[in-house]
Amino acid sequence: MIAGKHALVTGGGSGVGRAIALALAGAGIDVTICGRREAELAKVASENGRIFGIAGDVTNEAAMASLYERAQGARGPFDIVVANAGMGGSTPAHKTTLDDWQRTLDVNLTGAFLTVKPALAGMAARKAGRIVFIASTAGLKGYAYVAPYVAAKHGVIGLMRALAAETAKSGVTVNAVCPGFVETEMLEESIQRIIDKTGRSVEQARSGLASTNPQGRFIQPQEVAAAVLWLCGDAAQSITGQAISISGGETW
Ligand SMILES: NC(=O)c1ccc[n+]([C@@H]2O[C@H](COP(=O)([O-])OP(=O)(O)OC[C@H]3O[C@@H](n4cnc5c(N)ncnc54)[C@H](OP(=O)(O)O)[C@@H]3O)[C@@H](O)[C@H]2O)c1
Repeated sequence: MIAGKHALVTGGGSGVGRAIALALAGAGIDVTICGRREAELAKVASENGRIFGIAGDVTNEAAMASLYERAQGARGPFDIVVANAGMGGSTPAHKTTLDDWQRTLDVNLTGAFLTVKPALAGMAARKAGRIVFIASTAGLKGYAYVAPYVAAKHGVIGLMRALAAETAKSGVTVNAVCPGFVETEMLEESIQRIIDKTGRSVEQARSGLASTNPQGRFIQPQEVAAAVLWLCGDAAQSITGQAISISGGETW
């Protein structure tokens, strides 16, 4: 029974995280969303009374500890944790600065670890829990000009597999979903970067990215949310340690 549970969704103020928060709340789950921009969190919270925003930076361990204290104090322990917050960026590897490399790993990989770490002991003790990482097809294959992002997302898949092995006997499941290009703010930023760097038109930039998906289209955030909702339900009890590609067949 999924209704009545409490979920954390990082990056819930936009894109994929917003769609996940709305899908979980629609199923009767109380959802705490986090991100750095309070106004974006408030907008999503206004869409469903079961969604509650708490501002926080996933790269800051103390901020995540304080978020856990406040959210769990108000709505009980997290039964579901969705590590979704992430960032992109693109540069040829030889021009990537150490700062860019570090920031990309901090948000996408260390942030994912800091998001789930405080939930692990409680979930194991209660012998129940669902952890879902929003990775990427960039966690399963290489792409040019995004070395730190590809390295971070491969790291997320490794983290997921390690935690799945560690929790297998406890009733907790740990999985990752790996979308191809999803129509969100992050995609718009990628399209703008291509236009700025290559002089291509919006249509050329969009069709170039969409063609990486064998179905020739962008994934919608709701498609990712539907997979997460399924992973959080009773029917997915035996699914753990999996990296599920949501990419129209780009990877398998
Ligand atoms: N869009 C795609 O094509 C695509 C494809 C595959 C995987 N993904 C993954 O899907 C996830 C969601 O991305 P999206 O496409 O929905 O992009 P998005 O709309 O840009 O969402 C990213 C979210 O992460 C939050 N965030 C970023 N840095 C943060 C930090 N340090 N602390 C807390 N929150 C932070 C942002 O909120 P604030 O700015 O308010 O902090 C924002 O809500 C990411 O992990 C991304 O890598 C996206």
